[in-house]
Amino acid sequence: MATKEQVVITGASSGIGLAVADELEQQGLQVHRFSRRTGVDVTDPDTLTQAYNELREEPRFLVCSAGISEPGTFPDVPVMSWRRVMDTNLTGTYIAVREHTQRLIDAGKTGAVVLIGSPSGRRPSLDNLAYGVSKAAIVAMGIGLAKGLEPHGIKVHMLCPSHVDTPMLRLRGFPDLNHLALLQPQEVAREVARLLLTDTFTDGQPIYMSRMVAAKQT
Ligand SMILES: NC(=O)c1ccc[n+]([C@@H]2O[C@H](COP(=O)([O-])OP(=O)(O)OC[C@H]3O[C@@H](n4cnc5c(N)ncnc54)[C@H](OP(=O)(O)O)[C@@H]3O)[C@@H](O)[C@H]2O)c1
Repeated sequence: MATKEQVVITGASSGIGLAVADELEQQGLQVHRFSRRTGVDVTDPDTLTQAYNELREEPRFLVCSAGISEPGTFPDVPVMSWRRVMDTNLTGTYIAVREHTQRLIDAGKTGAVVLIGSPSGRRPSLDNLAYGVSKAAIVAMGIGLAKGLEPHGIKVHMLCPSHVDTPMLRLRGFPDLNHLALLQPQEVAREVARLLLTDTFTDGQPIYMSRMVAAKQT
């Protein structure tokens, strides 16, 4: 019997990550759901290494959806809040990608990674500065990784959805959310599945996705 393709999803307990996990499971993959609720904290390399050590084989696919946003408007935001957001969104993504791709390279396997950015990275605002800056940095990281990992047969896709109807968005408490303009997590999940499971070209440039448009910015 053929073994199932394996995928690790960080931030799989809620929102986009949860929808991606369900979609990929439906499409026949074996899904490993990582989040603090399952004992994996992306800011702590040891918990990632331990979770990967428990898998029976190296998964080819990784989706980095773990992320946080904290309330507050600059300059009235404590440095610790800035650090937490950067540590989770940026360093946590780095830690997960590093763990995953090092294992693929060592095993001589090809694979693919999807990073979740945000249009906030193009226009960080003072009421969510750390978040926007972390997402801008992930885009830069994705471009570097895509080019650098291509010779190893590892693709890196950068998906930037806009306003997705998830607990994170609700917690931010936008007063004027236009519910009709919100993306559903399942729509983002289908796009992640397409990127991972079809032979889609990538140079790591962000793919922007909103209710009205899905366009690649060059
Ligand atoms: N919602 C939007 O409009 C939107 C738009 C563009 C991009 N995004 C991005 O999409 C990703 C998912 O966001 P979402 O809206 O789905 O938010 P969400 O519903 O709040 O989900 C966030 C997920 O990240 C996990 N997480 C947080 N800190 C973690 C850590 N240190 N280690 C491991 N897992 C951690 C959470 O699980 P635990 O609490 O169990 O750890 C949860 O599963 C984020 O990167 C976000 O920036 C969201």
